[in-house]
Amino acid sequence: MSQLPDYVQVNRLHWDRQAHEWVEMGRRAWQQEPQWGIWGIPESDLDLLPSDMANMGAIELGCGTGYVSAWMTRRGARCVAIDNSQNQLNTARSLADQHGLDIEFLHGNAETVPYPDESFDFAVSEYGVAIWADPFKWVPEAARLLRPGGELSFLGHHPMVMLAQHREVDDEVTRTLLYSYFDLHRVDWTEGEDSGTEFNLPISRWMRLFEQTGFDIVAFHEIRSPSATARKSFAVDAAWAHDYPSEQAWRLRKR
Ligand SMILES: C[S@@+](CC[C@H](N)C(=O)[O-])C[C@H]1O[C@@H](n2cnc3c(N)ncnc32)[C@H](O)[C@@H]1O
Repeated sequence: MSQLPDYVQVNRLHWDRQAHEWVEMGRRAWQQEPQWGIWGIPESDLDLLPSDMANMGAIELGCGTGYVSAWMTRRGARCVAIDNSQNQLNTARSLADQHGLDIEFLHGNAETVPYPDESFDFAVSEYGVAIWADPFKWVPEAARLLRPGGELSFLGHHPMVMLAQHREVDDEVTRTLLYSYFDLHRVDWTEGEDSGTEFNLPISRWMRLFEQTGFDIVAFHEIRSPSATARKSFAVDAAWAHDYPSEQAWRLRKR
């Protein structure tokens, strides 16, 4: 544990502590067709997964309760799913047993995956490393793990959210810009017991990182909430997310 970067240690404690709160959501997601993020956008709108994954090797980076790996396994992929939290993996393993799906689960930091170069055809993260790990580490690691022509899809907060949400507490997202856009990188939540560390980048910096790590952009989505009703999903109001992008989703191909 002490050899892990400080934020990986903090995030391990954070996720081990709150894993029990995610069991029910994970159970539901294992039963559903693929849908993404806090607004449940259908896969048919985003196209983040290959429709046929027969004979593909896939890895989920920060799998949580493992439902994205379940969706990929049902599409024919051989899946490895890595997560930093043993308690989240306990849920994922138990759901895999209940659904009779064969997924290899690994406990560790997905910024350094114990697999050789070019082991996988596809890598994915939905709110896993996509927000909880340092992009300057996990994006090159995903590139290393993929074969040429392999793809990486990931979805998480849009940088706009990180500028408009108070950092002292995991507070609701405001209509005021509170922080520097150009300095956006590491964001430490300091809500006592619930502290955790997230990462994000300005859009142009993400794009430069993809270029530097050998990825071409296949698709980029700035996700809008389907309606402006008063519903809140996590810290984000549907009305806010109807006016501003609350989530980003990228599909990339390794050159
Ligand atoms: C919100 S969950 C997302 C996963 C999945 N989509 C879900 O909702 O169950 C975030 C997960 O990322 C994991 N995580 C955070 N940092 C990580 C890292 N450096 N390496 C691997 N997993 C990490 C956490 O342990 C947590 O289980």
